[in-house]
Amino acid sequence: MAGAKFLALLALVAFVFVALVPGTVVAWGADGHHSTCLLAESMLEPATVKAVRSLLPEYANGSLASLCTWPDDIKWMYKWHWTHAIHYIDTPDFLCRYNYDRDCHDADGRQDYCASGAINNYTSQLTKFELPPPNLITTKVRETQYNLTEALLFLAHIVGDIHQPLHVGFTNDAGGNTIILHWYRRKANLHHVWDNEFINRAKDLYYNGSLAIMTTAILNNITDNWVGEAKLWSECSDGAIACPDVYATESIRLACQYAYRNATPGSTLGDDYFLSRLPIVEARLAQGGVRLAAILNRLFGNSSQPILSH
Ligand code: ADE
Ligand code: ZN
Ligand code: ZN
Repeated sequence: MAGAKFLALLALVAFVFVALVPGTVVAWGADGHHSTCLLAESMLEPATVKAVRSLLPEYANGSLASLCTWPDDIKWMYKWHWTHAIHYIDTPDFLCRYNYDRDCHDADGRQDYCASGAINNYTSQLTKFELPPPNLITTKVRETQYNLTEALLFLAHIVGDIHQPLHVGFTNDAGGNTIILHWYRRKANLHHVWDNEFINRAKDLYYNGSLAIMTTAILNNITDNWVGEAKLWSECSDGAIACPDVYATESIRLACQYAYRNATPGSTLGDDYFLSRLPIVEARLAQGGVRLAAILNRLFGNSSQPILSH
C-alpha cells in the first residue's frame, strides 16, 4: 500500500530528524503514549479490534501502540506544521478553567485548532468508517481508508495528550515549557518533567525499567481497584462518542492543583514532588487508556458489551 510506505518513510525521516536535534521539545513522551494505547488495546471489543486492524498499515501488525507517537514524529515537517496546535490547549494564566469557545484556537486565532477540537473532528470523521468488503477495495475506498488511518492515529495520540495535565496549561509559559527548574540534580523544564521524567523514574524505580510491566500494573489497578471509577471515566453525557471538554477541564484543574504548585522557575523538584504527584500521572494514563478504548468501541464495536468485563 503506497500510503503505508509513505507513512513509514515519514516516520523514519522524522525519527532521524528528532534524534539529531538535541533538547527537542516533544509531547506526552513516547512512553506515555505507548502506555495509553497499550491500555486501550487491552480493552477493545473484537469488532473494534477488527476495524482498527483494517485501518492500520500492514507493517503495524495490528498494533495501534506502535503508531501512537506518529503525530509527534511528523509535526516538524512543513506539510504538517498546522498540526502543532492540536496537541494542546492554552488557557488564560492562573484562571485554572477551560472554555472551548475561548480557548480552542491556534496561535493565529483559528477556531477549533486545539486538542479538544481535534478529538471532536477526528471522532466525527471516523463515524464514516465502514469495513470494506474484502474483494472490493477500489481506489476510492483506499483513499477514504487512508484519511481515516490518519484520523485514527491522531485520535489515539491526542486523547493521550489531553490527559497530560500541562497539555491544558497556561498560555504564557506554554504549558510549563518555559518554566526552567531542576528535576533532582538535572536542569529541566516543567512540561518535560510531566511528559517524560515521572514515567522514566517510576519505570526505573518500581518496574525494572520496563514500560510493559508498568502498564500491566496500571491495568491491574483499573481492573482490581478502579472498576467503578473506570466505568464513569468511560462515559460521556448525551450519548456523545467522545467528550474532550471533560478531559480538558480535569487537566487544567490538575495542572493548577499539582503540576504548577511548588514548581516555580529555579526551584528543585525532588522526592516530595515526585511521590505526591506520581499517583496523578498513573491515574491520567489509566483514564486516557480507558477513554480511548471507550471511544473506539463506541465508534466500531457493538457497544452493548461492557469494556471491563473481566
Ligand atoms: N506549546 C504551547 N502550549 C503548550 C502546551 N500546553 N503543551 C504543549 N506544548 C505547548
Ligand atoms: Zn502530542
Ligand atoms: Zn508535551
